Amino acid sequence: MSDLLLSVEQVEVVYHDVVTAVQGVNLTARAGQIVCLLGSNGAGKTTTLRAISGFIGLDHARVTGGRIVFAGEDIANAAPHICARAGIALVAERDKVFEQLSVRENLEIGMVAGKTGSQAAGGDRLDLKGIYRFFPELERLTGRQAGFLSGGERQMLAIGSALLTSPRLLLIDELSLGLAPVVVERLAAALTDIRDALGITILLVEQNANIALSIADYGFVMENGRIVLDGDAGRLLAHGDIQEFYLGQGAAAGERRSYRAVKQYARKRRWYG
Ligand SMILES: Nc1ncnc2c1ncn2[C@@H]1O[C@H](COP(=O)(O)OP(=O)(O)OP(=O)(O)O)[C@@H](O)[C@H]1O
Ligand SMILES: [Mg+2]
Repeated sequence: MSDLLLSVEQVEVVYHDVVTAVQGVNLTARAGQIVCLLGSNGAGKTTTLRAISGFIGLDHARVTGGRIVFAGEDIANAAPHICARAGIALVAERDKVFEQLSVRENLEIGMVAGKTGSQAAGGDRLDLKGIYRFFPELERLTGRQAGFLSGGERQMLAIGSALLTSPRLLLIDELSLGLAPVVVERLAAALTDIRDALGITILLVEQNANIALSIADYGFVMENGRIVLDGDAGRLLAHGDIQEFYLGQGAAAGERRSYRAVKQYARKRRWYG
């Protein structure tokens, strides 16, 4: 496939030389796609994104098997600045912004990083105005200290800063965590606009399958460090197991079952029901 931008092949990640967090993970993203990675707590989603962006090195973890091929180069275990220079930007689960700095200063850091960066995204480089077009809220908040932003504004700032590094691949860890549904919808719509306007590729980690699959082209479901299901977003959205596990149908309120258990249950039901 010529437009394959990212190919994670049989990747294994080990923390502190002892804890295997992901094993045999296969995942691909084609240029211009929005791809989502779903899965419950501890499945290995963050580990996978941090492996792709090189940050696992800071977490005392290593890729101990497989390859992470980005734009034709194996970048497994490359340092974060090498991955950034190649065109990969991560919006992390925590520590998204510099809290002591203003909104504008946070964005300027992204711009500086983008200038020392690469050939990354083709076409015109984004400037502050370009970011404000996607997120007009940030223009109104330009002098505000980032530590005082709401969760949604903070997420916009983190995405804006990442875009200013001119990435080809934008990785977002937990878009919706702790945010009100209306804010999540706003952010999801912005991601679609960003992809359409800039042609970049987005890999989104989410626990909210509904919102992720509504904007994604393709989805992967992870459990216990492995990919257990993947497919076109529309197909996954209609998939009975996904419906049952993530969208809560058939499960008692508050009950959190493993995807595998739901799958086995669903199989049995098909056989015996
Ligand atoms: N710094 C670390 N040291 C040791 N083990 C870790 C570390 N970070 C994560 N792990 C382990 O790796 C596994 C995968 O964790 P990871 O954070 O990647 O999952 P996740 O899918 O992002 O979960 P969540 O939805 O809770 O964010 C877990 O078993 C976790 O305990
Ligand atoms: Mg995580």
